[in-house]
Amino acid sequence: MYIFVDTANTDEIREAASWGIVSGVTTNPSLIAKEGRDFKTVVKEITGIVDGSISAEVMADDAEGMIAEGRELAAIHPNITIKIPMTEEGLKAVHVLSKEDIKTNVTLIFSAAQALLAARAGASYVSPFVGRLDDIGNEGLRVIEDIVTIFALHEIGTKIIAASIRTPMHVLDCARAGADIATVPFGVLKKMFRHPLTDQGIAQFKKDWEDAGLK
Ligand code: E4P
Repeated sequence: MYIFVDTANTDEIREAASWGIVSGVTTNPSLIAKEGRDFKTVVKEITGIVDGSISAEVMADDAEGMIAEGRELAAIHPNITIKIPMTEEGLKAVHVLSKEDIKTNVTLIFSAAQALLAARAGASYVSPFVGRLDDIGNEGLRVIEDIVTIFALHEIGTKIIAASIRTPMHVLDCARAGADIATVPFGVLKKMFRHPLTDQGIAQFKKDWEDAGLK
């Protein structure tokens, strides 16, 4: 499973990219708004940091508007993936943009049925939201498992991005379930590094080295 970083903060993206683990970036309107910077400037900057899919979301409600925004964003850099919400208008836009070889990521997916429709419309990626389903007492992971099963059974090439990841366990569960990618917030990536036995081990190695008078 590949790891994308789920943030519009370019310092976080730079830091995560320096660890060598980042294959792409996802942003959304809330993440962009949090940065208080110009949308296109941020997206362009990200393309200079990570050589992989960079999702940038359209804001129009109608297909025509989404297609226009999608073409404009795609012109910024070949790695831009157009993030489009899971609506009828959204899928119309996916259908048109995919024929123009513009990559699309259908977002706000909460069921396997939605994922199947998005894939058939030509989506390059689907983004099922694990955490938001858990938040309302559903099992987000079950949706990932269903989509993985259905896409494998019908040889659907659309990639599954497990989104709305809240914990390191979410990442592992999605990897076990067979998601192609997990898009992970910076804070969760940092938590994935930590293990008390690693810290203890480092401290012990240092102590033994120093006690033996080694340089
Ligand atoms: C990514 O594509 C989504 O926009 C993001 O993972 C949503 O996460 P949230 O539910 O924590 O806002």
